[in-house]
Amino acid sequence: MKKIGVFTSGGDSPGMNACIRAVVRTAINKGLEVYGITRGYRGMIKGEIIRLESNSVSNIIQKGGTILRSARSKEFATKEGRREAFEQLQKHGIDGLVAIGGDGTFTGANIFCEEFGIPIIGAPGTIDNDLYGTDYTIGYDTAVNTALDAIDKIRDTADSHDRVFFIEVMGRDSGYIAIPCAIGGGAEIVMIPETETSIQSVVDTLRTGWDRSKTSFIVIVAEGDEEGNATEIAAQVQKMLPYMDARVTILGHVQRGGAPTAADRLLASQLGIACVDGLLEGRKSEMAGIINSQLVYTPFIDTITKQKVINPHYIKMVNILSA
Ligand code: F6P
Repeated sequence: MKKIGVFTSGGDSPGMNACIRAVVRTAINKGLEVYGITRGYRGMIKGEIIRLESNSVSNIIQKGGTILRSARSKEFATKEGRREAFEQLQKHGIDGLVAIGGDGTFTGANIFCEEFGIPIIGAPGTIDNDLYGTDYTIGYDTAVNTALDAIDKIRDTADSHDRVFFIEVMGRDSGYIAIPCAIGGGAEIVMIPETETSIQSVVDTLRTGWDRSKTSFIVIVAEGDEEGNATEIAAQVQKMLPYMDARVTILGHVQRGGAPTAADRLLASQLGIACVDGLLEGRKSEMAGIINSQLVYTPFIDTITKQKVINPHYIKMVNILSA
């Protein structure tokens, strides 16, 4: 292996730049040439490929977003699109890839590797933390801290006005962001897609608190909750508890930006190095991750098909601590 490419794909996450930096510097240290592919698979198809030197990644470890840009590509989902992407890689003599992204990125990488045989190693870069094969994904810690900072501020105004706030956090089909936000933000209720929490039980909990003279409440809603989004849930609850004053805040993409925390910079750097080492060891179609402080490589197929289960103890904690 002489030339490798690195790209970021799917939703960006804080720490992706730190990971790119680690990939570039490790590769150069091991005598490889490195190329950056911009805008993920979309850019690969278009041949948006640039040579990266050590100084190309100077002064980026502390920056959110991704210097390589990111995209979700429909063309890459077709065989024709993947063929065009492979031809572009061949044109540049690229014989290995590091893919930084989430489940969509690895689904694409898995098929690409099967069809064209190009070795690919992945680094888990997503705020969602929903990938099997690593305790934490790059960007998750920053996203949770960003959300928590906002929740603390909302708590101040909720308390001043005796209100119940429904705060929606990201996480697509997963409650990984919602759970630490609820515990760390002292929320009364958390609603996540992994467990059923009926509207009636939300109403009961709020009413019990109200009857005990509690005047403000925080309900954390994961965006993929089975009862709907925060706006829909709040409207139903407000109807059943007309004497309470409900408000909704959707934290949205603010959770995806900002400077990565120390934990994310460290994780991203470790995994960036592990991706290059993995390629040089002859690995392919695997994601580098950290489980119980140990570096592990997990086949892409497992990272996208196996579910990383949320510890049920954390869900119980919200109930016990909000009493
Ligand atoms: O996968 C990361 C994520 O931020 C999810 O939490 C969210 O559902 C989704 O991306 C939003 O995607 P987009 O930025 O394309 O709207």
